[in-house]
Amino acid sequence: MTNAPWWSQAVFYQIYPRSFADGNGDGTGDLAGISSRLDYLVELGVDAIWISPFQRSPQVDHGYDISDHCDVDPLFGTLADFDSMLAGAHERGLRVTIDMVPNHSSDQHPWFQRALASGPGSPERELYVFRDGLGEHGELPPTNVASLFGGPAWTRVTEPDGQPGQWYFHLFAAQQPDWNWGNEAVLEEFRRVFRFWLDRGVDGFRIDAGDALIKHPAYRGDDPLMPLIRKDPNSPVHRIYRELRKVMDSYPGERMAVLEMGGDREVLTSLVRPDEMHLYFNFPFMHSREWDDDKTLAEAIDLALWMRGSTGTPPTWVTDNHDTPRSVTRYGSHVQLAGDYVPTTGDPAPPTTDLTLGTRRARAMALALLSLPGAAYIYNGQELGLPNVDDLPEELLQDPVWERTGHQERGRDGCRIPLPWGGAEPPYEFSPTGTSTWLPQPTDWAPRSVAAQRGDPDSMLARYRHLLALRRAHPALRTGAVTWLPRPPHTIGYERTCFAGEHPGAAVIEVWLNLGTTPIALPSGEILASSAPVTDTLPADTAAWVRTR
Ligand code: GLC
Repeated sequence: MTNAPWWSQAVFYQIYPRSFADGNGDGTGDLAGISSRLDYLVELGVDAIWISPFQRSPQVDHGYDISDHCDVDPLFGTLADFDSMLAGAHERGLRVTIDMVPNHSSDQHPWFQRALASGPGSPERELYVFRDGLGEHGELPPTNVASLFGGPAWTRVTEPDGQPGQWYFHLFAAQQPDWNWGNEAVLEEFRRVFRFWLDRGVDGFRIDAGDALIKHPAYRGDDPLMPLIRKDPNSPVHRIYRELRKVMDSYPGERMAVLEMGGDREVLTSLVRPDEMHLYFNFPFMHSREWDDDKTLAEAIDLALWMRGSTGTPPTWVTDNHDTPRSVTRYGSHVQLAGDYVPTTGDPAPPTTDLTLGTRRARAMALALLSLPGAAYIYNGQELGLPNVDDLPEELLQDPVWERTGHQERGRDGCRIPLPWGGAEPPYEFSPTGTSTWLPQPTDWAPRSVAAQRGDPDSMLARYRHLLALRRAHPALRTGAVTWLPRPPHTIGYERTCFAGEHPGAAVIEVWLNLGTTPIALPSGEILASSAPVTDTLPADTAAWVRTR
């Protein structure tokens, strides 16, 4: 064995707490629900969980608007529920990581409320990004930058004297004011917040909007991401992450953090360093292609490997999360989707979506996801092959994106439907019979439930379990080198080997993924896994792991 830290090869399971399991029977998932399903996660074979925000919040952005970083929102339980969930996970050998949202707070956070009450020029206002407006009476926003959720990124406040006053910056919803990370007090506060959760025993964090902390509020263009200083290698953001890293390193037990960040090569290398945060999500792998575009997929793999060579940062593979239409639906569409895919109003699903095809492809993609060196993330329900739900009635849509875009974009609710655990009809044992869940579940999900798939050796769930067990058994699936093989068009083919001396005698595995329409020859060797039946050829939309040595 090697001394690689646990997180560098771990499989993380993302829990969207509203939608995973409901412990108190109110139709919304919670921490007690997570505790009750920990054995399921052990059976699945993941190493760690990442829980999206459960801290105290008005829930405007479902928890990504935090008003108290050191408490649990009553919707999800109590700190005691958190402690018992954490203890239950640790007893079972599961690591626990939690979301940390440093870019912005809720507008109900006491510090923002104090900033409003204290007026222009006060030290309280310096904790957020307040500016005077333009125009004769300050009636125009300081810049024309748009929020990532639609609408302007500036909102005007009413001053304590009742007059219209300054504007504050919010990259997301107006209820999510951005912190001013140029202010030392913000860093000090987050040191405290990190310590609070590290003291409780968490193994790490997922840093929300991790590339957005430092702003350039004077930027006047219309690219929403330009006001963020992302490409400056001397940016103060490095000091922030180094300081937070020091806090983490002062605790025993290899605590870690993964950055949510987008960007090209330059941005990636400028933000992830061995003395800053540990991992970043490889979004190009998730976002960038038509299904049969092997070139872009190969480039996304190469980018992550280049990053490993250049900065020593292990790659992190991901196809699904709570912000993106589910991959079964993306891969089942004949038009490209992913990041740009927005179901239009009144159009229940893209007309060309073929869920049978999408499921077949998602099964195949799992073999790529779980065979690349580094860490991998699975989003709750991905292992069940859940599709995106694009026909939610408009009056039930909850994502702030729906309102902020003037009902142009339906938002992300479709990938956040509560999980089906068993039974013939909603709520499928997510909540007690008869309960309405926070978003309604489709009436045809009984065959996709955990109970239904558990007994079927060919189910998506059974496939994931098998792949995760193989990944544990074969180090070449999680560490070492990727060597590209000569490959026909529209295919991905690479050999996986451990680094020299790392795991003497370990198997060498070829990974083949057929994104085209013509079957291709497979190498001779032992088929360890395949996403559909294979012989000596690999059919379209299928992947295989072949042990060649
Ligand atoms: C991140 C989260 C997303 C949230 C946003 C604002 O992108 O993943 O769900 O809405 O940040 O916090």
